[in-house]
Amino acid sequence: NSNPLIQLGVHGNGIHHVSVNGSFYPAKAKSRRQRWEVKPSEMANNTFNPIRAIVDGMKLTPNPDKPMIALSIGDPTVFGNLPTDDAVLQAMKDAIDSQKYNGYAPSVGYLKSRQAVANFFSCPEAPLEAEDVILTSGCSQAIDLAISVLCNPGDNILVPCPGFSLYKTLAVSMGIEVKLYNLLPEKSWEVDLQHLESLIDERTSCLIVTNPSNPCGSVFNKEHLQKILKVASKHCVPILADEIYSDMVFPGCNSPSMASLSSDVPILSCGGLAKRWLVPGWRMGWILIHDRNDIFGSQIRQGLVKLTQRILGACSIIQGALENILNNTPQSFYDNTISFLKSNSEICFNELSIIPGLNPVMPSGAMYLMVGINMDNFPDFKNDVEFTEQLVTEQSVFCLPATAFEYPNFFRIVVTLPEEMMVEACGRIREFCERHYRLHCVQQHRF
Ligand SMILES: *Cc1c(COP(=O)(O)O)cnc(C)c1O
Ligand SMILES: *[C@@H]1O[C@H](CO)[C@@H](O)[C@H](O)[C@H]1NC(C)=O
Repeated sequence: NSNPLIQLGVHGNGIHHVSVNGSFYPAKAKSRRQRWEVKPSEMANNTFNPIRAIVDGMKLTPNPDKPMIALSIGDPTVFGNLPTDDAVLQAMKDAIDSQKYNGYAPSVGYLKSRQAVANFFSCPEAPLEAEDVILTSGCSQAIDLAISVLCNPGDNILVPCPGFSLYKTLAVSMGIEVKLYNLLPEKSWEVDLQHLESLIDERTSCLIVTNPSNPCGSVFNKEHLQKILKVASKHCVPILADEIYSDMVFPGCNSPSMASLSSDVPILSCGGLAKRWLVPGWRMGWILIHDRNDIFGSQIRQGLVKLTQRILGACSIIQGALENILNNTPQSFYDNTISFLKSNSEICFNELSIIPGLNPVMPSGAMYLMVGINMDNFPDFKNDVEFTEQLVTEQSVFCLPATAFEYPNFFRIVVTLPEEMMVEACGRIREFCERHYRLHCVQQHRF
């Protein structure tokens, strides 16, 4: 053997071998596997994407006479009608041309980029320094790190229902229990505070609040956020605030950040460029650490830093562009996006609210609208999955059944598509409902 390490009797893995008669044998006989048996790890096996599980199980065969309209995809770039701002593109081009961002960034992100995020989100009630910001690969990694640093296997976290499915996907794969707290559609999806409080126990390590909401498009007002904080404060449970839609709030409605209202509850606020800047593929996110009472202290901060050292997060080039993106995007860009989303939401809500058997809930922000189905009026279908499946078959309109958000008998509509397509889709939903609607009366049950 010509490998010098082997000749020295040292393997790269540090196991020493002894030489007998010029050939190599292990120092001790080891038991060995008799056959191949390579199985996925428990973590891999326990990783479920509920949206994929449900959508892949549906028979989606569109009506060949009608072009498909997908109201299901939470990516504002797919229809091409909502480009990002030129200033955002220019920032990225400049970052590439500078040749300064081809190397590894620090694991928590460049100081200059973290400072830019801190400046952008800092407010007198909740000041931020660069050290309070950790840059991540999208908001998804921010959520992953936040759950990972706060929770051990066997702990539980409180997650909104209906809610964004990633929280559960991550938690379950880490052996963390998920407890769903109810949102109330009749109260514009406010939290059922009594239900929330009833779920808290000594193993509750984190309360997740999504505001504005995916899938509901709802926005909590200051008073409601204060009530949520009061519950967290009473039971000493830290908050993971998913604020990726922060400031994507319709005019006339306002929603402060949770951190600006908290006097004692420590908060990890997760956000990113994906939705507000309309560049989800750029994978830039962040964690804002709010800990004015020093409850997280240095240990949670150190824990977060250690976790960032597993795999570097955000790509260097987008980090290099971040300061200019945040500082140069004109207010008119944000305003135009929001007024488009509001106008499309109103069109959709108005069209759907006159359809018998449907109960749309008007959103106040983000880019979604939830629609309740009176299943009693649609005896042709067992549930929201069958309803939305047949809507594809007959009308080539695909809405995501809210079973994907643990909330049966609703479906979610994404309101980022062009206005004409939104109007066309609503017309087709009306035709579908009128064909299948049956007046529900008690007598039918007697036969
Ligand atoms: C889209 C979304 C995310 C993920 O954001 P990325 O930056 O694309 O990882 C996180 N939370 C909510 C509520 C979202 O809707
Ligand atoms: C994978 O998980 C399922 C339950 O979801 C379980 O029945 C199965 O035994 C697991 N497989 C492995 C290899 O762990």
